[in-house]
Amino acid sequence: DMAVCARNGSLLVRKYREQKERKKSQRKDWELAGSKLGNILGIKKENDKENPDEGDESDFKSSQRFSQHMGKKNEATSDFAKSKTLEQQRQFLPIYAVKEELLNIIRDNNIVVVIGETGSGKTTQLAQYLHEDGYSKYGMIGCTQPRRVAAMSVAKRVSEEMGVSLGEEVGYAIRFEDVTSEKTILKYMTDGILLRESLRESDLDTYSCIIMDEAHERSLNTDVLFGLLRDVVTRRRDLKLIVTSATMDAEKFCHFFGNVPNYTIPGRTFAVDILFSKNVVEDYVEAAVKQALQIHVQGRKGDILCFMPGQEDIEVTCDTLTVFYLSLFWKMLLPLAVLPIYSQLPSDLQAKIFQKAPDGIRKCVVATNIAETSLTVDGIAFVIDPGFCKLKVFNSRIGMDSLSVFPVSQANANQRSGRAGRTESGVAYRLYTLNQYKHEMLLASVPEIQRTNLANVVLLLKSLGVQDLLKFHFMDPPPQDNILNSMYQLWILGALDNTGALTSCGRSMVEFPLDPPLSKMMIVAAEMGCSAEILIIVSMLSVPAIFYRPTGREEESDTKREKFSVPESDHMTLLNVYQQWKTNGYSATWCNDHFIHAKAMRKVREVRSQLKEIADQQKMKIVSAGNEWDVIRKCICAAYFHHAARLKGIGEYVNVRTGMPCHLHPTSSLFGMGFTPDYVVYHELVMTSKEYMQNVTAVEGEWLAELGPMFYSVKESA
Ligand code: CDP
Ligand code: MG
Repeated sequence: DMAVCARNGSLLVRKYREQKERKKSQRKDWELAGSKLGNILGIKKENDKENPDEGDESDFKSSQRFSQHMGKKNEATSDFAKSKTLEQQRQFLPIYAVKEELLNIIRDNNIVVVIGETGSGKTTQLAQYLHEDGYSKYGMIGCTQPRRVAAMSVAKRVSEEMGVSLGEEVGYAIRFEDVTSEKTILKYMTDGILLRESLRESDLDTYSCIIMDEAHERSLNTDVLFGLLRDVVTRRRDLKLIVTSATMDAEKFCHFFGNVPNYTIPGRTFAVDILFSKNVVEDYVEAAVKQALQIHVQGRKGDILCFMPGQEDIEVTCDTLTVFYLSLFWKMLLPLAVLPIYSQLPSDLQAKIFQKAPDGIRKCVVATNIAETSLTVDGIAFVIDPGFCKLKVFNSRIGMDSLSVFPVSQANANQRSGRAGRTESGVAYRLYTLNQYKHEMLLASVPEIQRTNLANVVLLLKSLGVQDLLKFHFMDPPPQDNILNSMYQLWILGALDNTGALTSCGRSMVEFPLDPPLSKMMIVAAEMGCSAEILIIVSMLSVPAIFYRPTGREEESDTKREKFSVPESDHMTLLNVYQQWKTNGYSATWCNDHFIHAKAMRKVREVRSQLKEIADQQKMKIVSAGNEWDVIRKCICAAYFHHAARLKGIGEYVNVRTGMPCHLHPTSSLFGMGFTPDYVVYHELVMTSKEYMQNVTAVEGEWLAELGPMFYSVKESA
């Protein structure tokens, strides 16, 4: 919620100034977990040595040093990236020392599980080693990533290491963006892409090797691929499957694939002091900002990595840090470079976090849990961990997904802390108490497959001919309720028939790389005669963050944004933005003038043309509704009638089926317009301070009854 966040920001500035006056030392808030923590982590305590580097950390004198993983301690390496060539950097990675040994095991086995600390070189090196060993002669070497950002940034890095242009020998593919060519031999991609490829080519014949990277993340698509690839390997004796994992769970992976061998890359990590907050932290943004500045003022060298659950918190943290930093500028010995990273951030800004800051400048990277294992930023000596992350969770009781903030698991917390000890010894500040760590955090996080909506997976598996999903070989089967609920959702959308078999509608829905309701919207649009408009709306929904709202110019940007508002629909507002952009010759200047991300719009255009291609292949007609705008709303209703809310009191909505309160988001076109329709449908429910409906469209009550007869009927009022 941007409005609330912005206000929080200035509140923080005031609070901070007050506190500064009181000269309250924040250091007192920290206590050291002592040997108890060592026990929890199963970590040996090292000899307490005075480290001259840490002279100014006197308040932490009692600090015990722990090494999270007792690898061999190596020479100081914090600035090796400065002086060494890419080739030298490659040879310095822990995986390099065991290259031949690893390749031997891979030669002798079709499936190998490779375990190694984050930063040991699994993602960037393994694929290159396989190529050097000749596997690329027989097909591509594919490497899957659960996260798009990782797929892109790693491919870029590897292309540099190999001295080729990105998109040629080394490429990447993520949804709606394929940067590969005929020449490509190393292909980095999201796990979702490989899953879709297996639809077209079930034996994945174009690959000689597949590396399933970041398996410990247990993303939904990786888990499904596990089940599919297990069978592919039995059919294709020439395929090498390598499963890599940061730590943990190795036994489980080996067992799942039929007791296959595993190989652990010897680690190289440094001691990390783990400090817990003494008191329960109420505002983790505030606490994190204070901590970052504290570290900065203390003057010890090293970059800071601060975790935050999501984009909004990252933005507020970065803004607040910058404001504080500027107000304290005169005191600062070192300049501070504040760099955000989250998946929706434009890729040129993402790349910044990997650039080495010039001498004398400290980097402070503020990241989602993307920086936990998927991305390695060198030179981090301090980690700030609020202990929260954002998760999409399927609530089978109300039958919908929602994105909410949850405490991380102990395993995540330890991964986060470990980020501080990669190139030198470091400190991890945990913004939660030891008690919270022990009693409020799960040991390990719940795999995505057990907590999210499975409609997409069910649709994919059905089209692959998996009849009985309850019998599919999952490493951790999803709760039966989730499967049944997802099947129910597909049934109401007309993708499955009464026997649970795929319908022809379902079959064409699979063709679109979209969530089932959006695929459904595309199909209905062709029938209703508004596919030209829906094509744009769906494309706009597939590229988040169209608008931006720079600090200091909030009102100006809000005013511009309001000009696009179509009072009865956020979807139509998006359509309006696109059409005006088109009228203005797809101009980037026009975007800048209207506080719209030009890059995002170019992406929308690309997505649109890709979706149009699929629609053409499906022989779907692309027709415009002309001035018949009601048809467009009705079409949206046909795909989202299961997400309907009705007006209850002034500006208050409740879910029609469950009665659960849900609110218009302040950024909605319908918000505060004095126009409050009796019924709305929404794209997504987002939980922040309350349940917000995101992307809302006003609909007629009769449409709900007509399009969603399994839920609604019209009652005659007396
Ligand atoms: O996969 P794993 O965590 O084992 O390591 P990796 O991602 O292969 O990273 C190995 C090293 O490559 C890191 O320590 C970074 O120094 C470097 N790297 C980079 O500079 N830029 C990237 N985009 C990715 C990796
Ligand atoms: Mg990796």
